[in-house]
Amino acid sequence: MKRLLRLGFRLAIPTLEFFKSTEPCLQSDSRHSTDPKSDRYLVEMKGVNLRFGNKTIFDKFDLKIAKSERLVLLGPSGIGKSTLLRLLLGTLPPESGRILFKGAEISHLGREQLNRIRTHIGMVFQSSALISSLTVFENLALPLRELTEKSEPEIAAIVDEKLHFVDLDQAKSLMPAELSGGMRKRVAIARSLVLNPELILFDEPTTGLDPIVARQVSDLILDLNEKAGATILVVTHDLQAAFHIATRIALLSQGRIVESGPPTTIKTSHNEIVTQFLAAASYETPPSPQMEAGA
Ligand SMILES: Nc1ncnc2c1ncn2[C@@H]1O[C@H](COP(=O)(O)OP(=O)(O)OP(=O)(O)O)[C@@H](O)[C@H]1O
Ligand SMILES: [Mg+2]
Repeated sequence: MKRLLRLGFRLAIPTLEFFKSTEPCLQSDSRHSTDPKSDRYLVEMKGVNLRFGNKTIFDKFDLKIAKSERLVLLGPSGIGKSTLLRLLLGTLPPESGRILFKGAEISHLGREQLNRIRTHIGMVFQSSALISSLTVFENLALPLRELTEKSEPEIAAIVDEKLHFVDLDQAKSLMPAELSGGMRKRVAIARSLVLNPELILFDEPTTGLDPIVARQVSDLILDLNEKAGATILVVTHDLQAAFHIATRIALLSQGRIVESGPPTTIKTSHNEIVTQFLAAASYETPPSPQMEAGA
């Protein structure tokens, strides 16, 4: 426990031991236990408000993420996408409103309780955020050593399994500086998986990657959902990735979700904000032939 608190949420990686915990912070909020539909949702944000100075980032913001869905949140630069992830991770508290994870309120918890909730959520940062002085193996092993009581052979087996999942079996003794951008991203994804999170958050997972590598990373995110069963939230302004990955797309504008639905619904939306965003973002990153064919 001391080690967990020391590490804080620097790693944002979950551990199964805490998942099995019966601590009050993981029990369902009684105000929601009567709602049979609440089981459907891993995350619920209700009436969340947040400002930075005079700038409103979230204005009575509502969002629900159903178990096993792949939600892509689209929005222009500076709109609040990364800030939303910080709210979900609890590294930033909302001014008001409620944020529930598995029916339990997480928006106003103490540090220790919050750390336990955070252990169920994997995070892949835009920068990948690998520790440059550690090998790939050590980067993946660190959260297991810090947050669990697993033996070294158990840790080695988990690291091997996760590196195999991202097709980087051969990379474990390399240093981060020896990796390409795409490899770094895949290592960061593998690290987010070592404690089997239920929810994985991705901040701009494909930005800065060439189109082929970006597609590989998008495919990997699909695999995480389809093979590993994780619920996925991606925030991005990359349309190609969004339409490839999502089972649902939501568009963030002026502090709220202006439209949300399956990719085909978003693509054919008549909402002016949606059409303007899609036109502008398509200009930035031309849609793939698959997208144009309605994939
Ligand atoms: N700690 C902070 N203090 C003050 N303003 C902040 C803070 N964090 C973010 N902001 C501001 O909040 C707004 C939203 O920032 P955020 O990083 O969430 O945008 P974003 O949608 O992720 O943008 P991008 O697509 O460029 O990554 C920006 O105007 C940013 O300058
Ligand atoms: Mg951002």
